[in-house]
Amino acid sequence: MVESPPALNPTAPGPADATRHRWEWHIHANEAAMSAAAAARLADEVRGRRNALVCLATGSTPTHTYERLVARARTEPEVFAQARWMKLDEWGGLAMDDPASCEHYLRRLILAPLAVPAERYFGWESPPADPEAECRRVAAWLAVHGPIDVQVLGLGENGHLGFNEPAAQLQAKPHVARLSPVSLGHSMLGPSRGRAAYGLTLGMDDILGARRIMLLVTGERKARQLRRLATGEISSEFPASLLWRHRAVSVFCDAAAAALLPAESLRPFTPLEGQAP
Ligand code: GLP
Repeated sequence: MVESPPALNPTAPGPADATRHRWEWHIHANEAAMSAAAAARLADEVRGRRNALVCLATGSTPTHTYERLVARARTEPEVFAQARWMKLDEWGGLAMDDPASCEHYLRRLILAPLAVPAERYFGWESPPADPEAECRRVAAWLAVHGPIDVQVLGLGENGHLGFNEPAAQLQAKPHVARLSPVSLGHSMLGPSRGRAAYGLTLGMDDILGARRIMLLVTGERKARQLRRLATGEISSEFPASLLWRHRAVSVFCDAAAAALLPAESLRPFTPLEGQAP
């Protein structure tokens, strides 16, 4: 890991340049190495702050990181004893116990294995009787209990974060999202017993208000989007690019996802971690 700019497009003007130097890029040989490193970092972040509020993405990318985190928690339970956990987003319309719900995912991977008590977890209800009222409930909770200390994110295949989908304008606060075709085709929905009608998600300000952001990216299918992110150009049509407005982003990726990052730009700042020199 090296804390220095990707400098993929050093001539690109704009606000990204001002904060770029604080980003960390951790490129690992494979998903297993990336997951171990991301779990270690997440544990370090939690260790450093009592009652840390950790907001969790779901999906395929963070699964092994969460498994590794739980394994670490078995050896140092005191680190996680006071942590608070929050759910980034949810499929509106699915029951909480639907096998495809984000709730089900987090219960299986984090909340049950860590035996997180109800008072240290907060998440979207689904399906809410009134989705807009549910957004207000989440916003009100965050106003009292936030900001988020560590925000774990995946990168959507269309550049979305949570369910902040590409659009002419992005939403700042918790909101009901219209799901893109990419999201409606997400593999999570495969085992669903219901139909995801909309998304419930934190907004971009909520995410950017986090003290530390960890963006996890794996696999060849994300390589193009990671390359686009690394250019530093900010566009609401590529929501992940808004992360350039944040000063403390740690990108954890595997070599497959990093494959399209120009080698000459990578050499000065990012060794391939998890491989012998
Ligand atoms: C999903 C979720 C996001 C997730 C993203 C990437 O639709 N709403 O929170 O991070 O898409 O998913 P995956 O990691 O499976 O590619």
